[in-house]
Amino acid sequence: MARQLLNILVNELHDAQLRRYAAEYARGQLVDIGCGIKPYQAMFAPFVTSHVGVDHRETLHTHEQIDLYGTAYTISVADNSFDTALCTAVLEHLEEPEAALRECHRVLQPGGVALYSVPFIWHLHEEPRDFFRYSKHGLRYLFEKTGFELLEIQPLSGFWVTFGQLLVYYLYRFNHGPLRWSKVITLGGVVIQALAFVLDQLDKAEQWTWMYMVVARKPACR
Ligand SMILES: C[S@@+](CC[C@H](N)C(=O)[O-])C[C@H]1O[C@@H](n2cnc3c(N)ncnc32)[C@H](O)[C@@H]1O
Repeated sequence: MARQLLNILVNELHDAQLRRYAAEYARGQLVDIGCGIKPYQAMFAPFVTSHVGVDHRETLHTHEQIDLYGTAYTISVADNSFDTALCTAVLEHLEEPEAALRECHRVLQPGGVALYSVPFIWHLHEEPRDFFRYSKHGLRYLFEKTGFELLEIQPLSGFWVTFGQLLVYYLYRFNHGPLRWSKVITLGGVVIQALAFVLDQLDKAEQWTWMYMVVARKPACR
Protein backbone atom coordinates (compact mmCIF):
# COMPACT_ATOMS: atom_id res chain seq x y z
CA MET A 1 0.00 0.00 0.00
CA ALA A 2 1.30 3.43 -0.87
CA ARG A 3 2.44 4.63 2.53
CA GLN A 4 0.67 7.98 2.40
CA LEU A 5 -2.71 6.35 1.70
CA LEU A 6 -2.49 4.17 4.78
CA ASN A 7 -3.52 6.92 7.20
CA ILE A 8 -4.48 9.79 4.94
CA LEU A 9 -7.76 10.49 6.79
CA VAL A 10 -6.33 10.80 10.31
CA ASN A 11 -3.42 12.86 8.99
CA GLU A 12 -5.83 15.23 7.25
CA LEU A 13 -8.02 15.60 10.36
CA HIS A 14 -4.97 16.13 12.59
CA ASP A 15 -3.37 18.67 10.25
CA ALA A 16 -6.60 20.60 9.67
CA GLN A 17 -7.01 21.16 13.42
CA LEU A 18 -3.32 21.98 13.90
CA ARG A 19 -3.49 24.51 11.04
CA ARG A 20 -6.37 26.28 12.82
CA TYR A 21 -4.43 26.35 16.10
CA ALA A 22 -1.24 27.53 14.37
CA ALA A 23 -3.05 30.55 12.94
CA GLU A 24 -4.77 31.33 16.24
CA TYR A 25 -2.03 30.71 18.80
CA ALA A 26 1.49 30.37 17.33
CA ARG A 27 3.89 33.32 17.46
CA GLY A 28 7.52 34.28 18.14
CA GLN A 29 10.08 31.58 18.85
CA LEU A 30 8.74 28.02 18.67
CA VAL A 31 10.22 24.89 20.22
CA ASP A 32 9.16 21.57 18.63
CA ILE A 33 9.64 18.93 21.35
CA GLY A 34 10.20 15.41 19.94
CA CYS A 35 10.31 16.98 16.50
CA GLY A 36 11.09 13.83 14.46
CA ILE A 37 11.33 15.00 10.84
CA LYS A 38 9.73 18.36 11.82
CA PRO A 39 6.69 17.77 9.60
CA TYR A 40 4.95 21.00 10.62
CA GLN A 41 7.72 23.48 9.89
CA ALA A 42 6.05 24.85 6.73
CA MET A 43 2.65 25.02 8.44
CA PHE A 44 3.97 27.18 11.30
CA ALA A 45 6.43 29.27 9.26
CA PRO A 46 3.99 32.14 8.51
CA PHE A 47 3.31 32.65 12.23
CA VAL A 48 6.66 32.18 14.03
CA THR A 49 10.11 33.74 13.79
CA SER A 50 12.06 30.54 14.49
CA HIS A 51 11.31 26.81 14.75
CA VAL A 52 13.75 24.91 16.97
CA GLY A 53 13.51 21.11 16.72
CA VAL A 54 14.46 19.11 19.82
CA ASP A 55 14.82 15.32 19.83
CA HIS A 56 16.91 12.70 21.57
CA ARG A 57 19.93 10.92 20.10
CA GLU A 58 18.19 7.51 20.15
CA THR A 59 15.33 8.67 17.94
CA LEU A 60 14.15 6.20 15.27
CA HIS A 61 13.73 9.13 12.83
CA THR A 62 16.44 10.83 10.76
CA HIS A 63 18.50 13.42 12.62
CA GLU A 64 18.52 16.01 9.85
CA GLN A 65 15.83 18.24 11.33
CA ILE A 66 17.14 18.21 14.90
CA ASP A 67 18.50 21.63 15.91
CA LEU A 68 19.10 20.77 19.55
CA TYR A 69 19.74 17.32 21.01
CA GLY A 70 17.94 16.86 24.29
CA THR A 71 15.04 15.03 25.82
CA ALA A 72 11.56 16.18 26.69
CA TYR A 73 12.87 16.32 30.29
CA THR A 74 16.01 18.36 29.65
CA ILE A 75 16.05 21.07 27.01
CA SER A 76 19.30 22.98 27.39
CA VAL A 77 17.97 26.54 27.16
CA ALA A 78 17.26 29.21 29.77
CA ASP A 79 13.87 29.58 31.45
CA ASN A 80 11.24 31.48 29.42
CA SER A 81 13.09 31.02 26.09
CA PHE A 82 10.13 30.33 23.80
CA ASP A 83 6.74 31.86 22.96
CA THR A 84 5.20 28.67 21.55
CA ALA A 85 5.73 24.95 22.18
CA LEU A 86 4.66 22.23 19.75
CA CYS A 87 4.62 18.58 20.78
CA THR A 88 2.79 16.23 18.40
CA ALA A 89 2.40 12.51 19.08
CA VAL A 90 5.17 12.46 21.69
CA LEU A 91 3.56 12.37 25.16
CA GLU A 92 2.66 8.67 24.81
CA HIS A 93 6.37 7.91 24.30
CA LEU A 94 7.44 9.51 27.58
CA GLU A 95 7.80 7.41 30.71
CA GLU A 96 7.55 10.57 32.90
CA PRO A 97 4.89 12.79 31.28
CA GLU A 98 4.60 15.08 34.30
CA ALA A 99 8.34 15.86 34.25
CA ALA A 100 8.09 16.56 30.51
CA LEU A 101 5.21 19.01 30.96
CA ARG A 102 7.14 20.79 33.73
CA GLU A 103 10.11 21.19 31.36
CA CYS A 104 7.84 22.56 28.63
CA HIS A 105 6.35 24.99 31.17
CA ARG A 106 9.87 26.08 32.24
CA VAL A 107 11.08 26.92 28.71
CA LEU A 108 7.90 28.84 27.79
CA GLN A 109 7.52 32.56 28.42
CA PRO A 110 4.70 33.59 30.78
CA GLY A 111 1.69 33.85 28.44
CA GLY A 112 3.30 31.35 26.04
CA VAL A 113 1.13 28.65 24.50
CA ALA A 114 1.73 24.90 24.15
CA LEU A 115 0.06 22.81 21.41
CA TYR A 116 -0.02 19.04 21.98
CA SER A 117 -1.55 16.14 20.08
CA VAL A 118 -1.97 13.02 22.20
CA PRO A 119 -3.50 9.65 21.28
CA PHE A 120 -6.32 8.03 23.27
CA ILE A 121 -6.87 4.86 21.14
CA TRP A 122 -3.93 3.74 19.01
CA HIS A 123 -1.90 0.60 18.44
CA LEU A 124 1.61 0.09 19.84
CA HIS A 125 4.25 1.93 17.82
CA GLU A 126 7.91 3.01 18.07
CA GLU A 127 8.37 0.22 20.63
CA PRO A 128 9.66 -0.20 23.23
CA ARG A 129 9.31 3.56 23.89
CA ASP A 130 5.49 3.49 23.87
CA PHE A 131 4.17 3.93 27.41
CA PHE A 132 0.71 5.52 27.76
CA ARG A 133 -2.62 6.58 26.22
CA TYR A 134 -4.55 9.58 27.58
CA SER A 135 -8.20 10.45 28.23
CA LYS A 136 -9.28 14.10 28.24
CA HIS A 137 -9.61 13.90 32.02
CA GLY A 138 -6.05 12.62 32.43
CA LEU A 139 -4.80 15.39 30.16
CA ARG A 140 -6.64 18.10 32.10
CA TYR A 141 -5.22 16.70 35.35
CA LEU A 142 -1.63 16.61 34.06
CA PHE A 143 -1.63 20.03 32.42
CA GLU A 144 -3.24 21.77 35.40
CA LYS A 145 -0.99 19.95 37.87
CA THR A 146 2.08 21.24 36.04
CA GLY A 147 0.90 24.87 36.13
CA PHE A 148 -0.76 25.28 32.74
CA GLU A 149 -4.09 26.94 32.11
CA LEU A 150 -6.06 24.71 29.75
CA LEU A 151 -7.59 26.61 26.83
CA GLU A 152 -8.91 23.75 24.65
CA ILE A 153 -9.07 19.95 24.51
CA GLN A 154 -10.40 18.88 21.13
CA PRO A 155 -11.26 15.25 20.26
CA LEU A 156 -10.31 14.76 16.60
CA SER A 157 -12.80 12.02 15.70
CA GLY A 158 -15.55 9.72 16.85
CA PHE A 159 -15.82 5.93 16.78
CA TRP A 160 -15.88 5.38 13.02
CA VAL A 161 -12.63 7.12 12.12
CA THR A 162 -10.83 5.32 14.96
CA PHE A 163 -12.35 1.96 14.06
CA GLY A 164 -11.71 2.43 10.33
CA GLN A 165 -8.09 3.40 10.89
CA LEU A 166 -7.38 0.46 13.18
CA LEU A 167 -9.00 -1.88 10.63
CA VAL A 168 -6.82 -0.46 7.84
CA TYR A 169 -3.66 -0.94 9.92
CA TYR A 170 -4.78 -4.47 10.80
CA LEU A 171 -5.33 -5.36 7.12
CA TYR A 172 -2.00 -3.83 6.18
CA ARG A 173 -0.31 -6.59 8.18
CA PHE A 174 -1.30 -8.94 5.32
CA ASN A 175 0.34 -6.77 2.70
CA HIS A 176 3.52 -8.83 2.88
CA GLY A 177 4.13 -12.41 1.82
CA PRO A 178 3.58 -14.46 -1.31
CA LEU A 179 0.09 -13.25 -2.25
CA ARG A 180 1.14 -9.60 -2.42
CA TRP A 181 -2.39 -8.27 -1.97
CA SER A 182 -1.16 -4.71 -1.92
CA LYS A 183 -3.49 -3.27 -4.62
CA VAL A 184 -6.58 -4.89 -3.07
CA ILE A 185 -5.54 -3.71 0.38
CA THR A 186 -4.74 -0.19 -0.85
CA LEU A 187 -8.13 0.12 -2.48
CA GLY A 188 -9.86 -1.50 0.52
CA GLY A 189 -8.04 0.87 2.88
CA VAL A 190 -9.11 3.96 0.95
CA VAL A 191 -12.73 2.78 0.79
CA ILE A 192 -12.76 2.02 4.53
CA GLN A 193 -11.39 5.48 5.36
CA ALA A 194 -13.92 7.20 3.06
CA LEU A 195 -16.77 5.26 4.66
CA ALA A 196 -15.42 5.95 8.15
CA PHE A 197 -15.30 9.69 7.40
CA VAL A 198 -18.95 9.75 6.25
CA LEU A 199 -20.17 7.69 9.22
CA ASP A 200 -18.23 9.92 11.62
CA GLN A 201 -20.06 12.95 10.20
CA LEU A 202 -23.39 11.23 10.87
CA ASP A 203 -22.53 10.21 14.43
CA LYS A 204 -19.35 11.60 16.01
CA ALA A 205 -19.18 9.53 19.19
CA GLU A 206 -16.25 11.39 20.72
CA GLN A 207 -15.60 8.94 23.55
CA TRP A 208 -13.87 6.79 20.91
CA THR A 209 -11.60 9.50 19.50
CA TRP A 210 -8.20 8.24 18.42
CA MET A 211 -6.54 11.57 19.34
CA TYR A 212 -6.93 14.77 21.34
CA MET A 213 -5.41 18.11 20.56
CA VAL A 214 -4.62 20.30 23.57
CA VAL A 215 -4.00 24.03 23.78
CA ALA A 216 -2.55 25.14 27.12
CA ARG A 217 -1.08 28.43 28.31
CA LYS A 218 1.59 29.23 30.86
CA PRO A 219 -0.18 31.90 32.92
CA ALA A 220 1.12 35.43 32.41
CA CYS A 221 2.90 37.06 35.39
CA ARG A 222 0.79 39.46 37.39
C1 LIG B 1 5.54 9.46 16.84
S1 LIG B 1 7.02 10.42 16.75
C2 LIG B 1 6.37 12.04 16.47
C3 LIG B 1 7.37 12.93 15.78
C4 LIG B 1 6.84 14.32 15.37
N1 LIG B 1 6.53 15.12 16.53
C5 LIG B 1 5.64 14.18 14.46
O1 LIG B 1 4.55 14.65 14.81
O2 LIG B 1 5.80 13.60 13.36
C6 LIG B 1 7.57 10.49 18.45
C7 LIG B 1 8.79 11.34 18.65
O3 LIG B 1 9.08 11.43 20.05
C8 LIG B 1 10.48 11.38 20.20
N2 LIG B 1 10.83 10.99 21.57
C9 LIG B 1 10.65 9.81 22.18
N3 LIG B 1 11.12 9.85 23.44
C10 LIG B 1 11.60 11.12 23.64
C11 LIG B 1 12.20 11.80 24.73
N4 LIG B 1 12.40 11.20 25.91
N5 LIG B 1 12.56 13.08 24.57
C12 LIG B 1 12.33 13.72 23.39
N6 LIG B 1 11.77 13.13 22.32
C13 LIG B 1 11.39 11.84 22.44
C14 LIG B 1 10.92 10.38 19.15
O4 LIG B 1 12.29 10.43 18.87
C15 LIG B 1 10.04 10.80 17.97
O5 LIG B 1 10.64 11.81 17.20
